[in-house]
Amino acid sequence: MESPSSGRLNRDGIKIHDPADFAGMRAAGRVVADVLDRIGPLVVPGVETAMLDSEIHRMVREAGATSATVGYKGYRHASCISVNHVVCHGIPGNKIPGRSSDALRDEDIVNIDVTVIVDGWYGDSSRMYVAGTASRKAERLVDITHDALMEGIAQVRPGATFGDIGAAIQRFAEAHRCSVVRDFCGHGLGRVFHAAPNVLHYGRWGAGPILEPGMFFTIEPMINLGRPETRILDDDWTAVTRDRSLSAQFEHSVGVTETGVEIFTASPAGLFHPTSAPTPRG
Ligand code: MF3
Ligand code: CO
Ligand code: CO
Repeated sequence: MESPSSGRLNRDGIKIHDPADFAGMRAAGRVVADVLDRIGPLVVPGVETAMLDSEIHRMVREAGATSATVGYKGYRHASCISVNHVVCHGIPGNKIPGRSSDALRDEDIVNIDVTVIVDGWYGDSSRMYVAGTASRKAERLVDITHDALMEGIAQVRPGATFGDIGAAIQRFAEAHRCSVVRDFCGHGLGRVFHAAPNVLHYGRWGAGPILEPGMFFTIEPMINLGRPETRILDDDWTAVTRDRSLSAQFEHSVGVTETGVEIFTASPAGLFHPTSAPTPRG
């Protein structure tokens, strides 16, 4: 439930949260980041995505949090697990498209997307993992997608626009001869899962609503090695690339501060990127 005293809507219909609300997002973001840190060692060849999801659900409950995706629009799992040419919303336990089981194999690149609710606040984040050793082209895609998200986040400050975020991501991805998925976007969040605005991962510099302190939203670019078009499988959830090219995604939940950005879902252990060395923390 939305508390009536918390925040207000701006002219663009985007919620402006109170300074005190950052603490709620920080707590939710920490839980999801910790779950994503701890699932990493389990993403290995042979493991079944159903098992990864049940571990995730167990960790979410153990943290005293609630899964936001269980029961959401009929979805029944605590994560989305999207392998190789699956763009997003891969269903744990379903056969990996093109295979006879949900078991991971060497060289698979895997996005795991988890959303939790802590004291009514939503934390939403996803990362890429590699089962075994990635091929060079897959590793390159994962690196480009991570860096594209960070290019978008680097635009976030009061006075910038949502178009700046999309333009920065698109410029970076296309400079590396990759494509930006148009069919899915980031979103406002807070005490709700999906709110205004739609956060596009492509766009024009200076276009779109202006960022203000107190806005909370996700940035979650999906980047393909091939063409950007997607298709939904018969399960009504799983989105795949039409040309079956590899796709990667990273997602953070962020807040606009007085001077820039706070990343609510940063990894406590510095493990957000799958292969770079952990960031030292002081
Ligand atoms: N976590 C996804 C997002 O980034 C949404 C998943 S909804 C589900 O917005 F129902 F598919 F889980
Ligand atoms: Co999201
Ligand atoms: Co998500």
